[in-house]
Amino acid sequence: MSRKSPARTSRAKPIYVLNGPNLNLLGSREPELYGRTTLADIEQAAAAQAKAHGYEVIFRQSNHEGVLVDWIQEARTAAAGVILNAGAYTHTSLAIHDALRALDRPLIEVHLSNIFAREPFRHHSHVSPVATGVICGLGATGYLLAIDALASLLKEKTA
Ligand code: DQA
Repeated sequence: MSRKSPARTSRAKPIYVLNGPNLNLLGSREPELYGRTTLADIEQAAAAQAKAHGYEVIFRQSNHEGVLVDWIQEARTAAAGVILNAGAYTHTSLAIHDALRALDRPLIEVHLSNIFAREPFRHHSHVSPVATGVICGLGATGYLLAIDALASLLKEKTA
């Protein structure tokens, strides 16, 4: 009788991929900066990438700071790790910074654009000081690299 190795998906907590304000407009919003890929495209690709590592993805977007804080708090117990593109809240939100400080899970900060090559007000991130790692400037591919990075960090943790 062939016995499949137990799927990680049946036991592992999911990877949370959280997106902040205006990212629902991806594909049509400033495509010269953010590309033509929609958030739904990214969700699909992220789910496939995570599945290859044995993880499910909980993929969400909100334009509201408090909702993002609620999801980060939820992730403290419900997620294996978090990928966060906080959009403009990256540069402004102490509430998101504080929620992330309490996360106690690997956290990858993602930005589609290279925030350091843009306006000075985008050069500071309240997420970076509490992130495990940061990926920016690689467009939608950044999300997939973040999933690879998280999967590798989680593997190290359980090894
Ligand atoms: C962004 C960069 C932020 O500065 C901006 O406010 C966004 C998108 C990015 O993915 O490049 O909304 O997070």
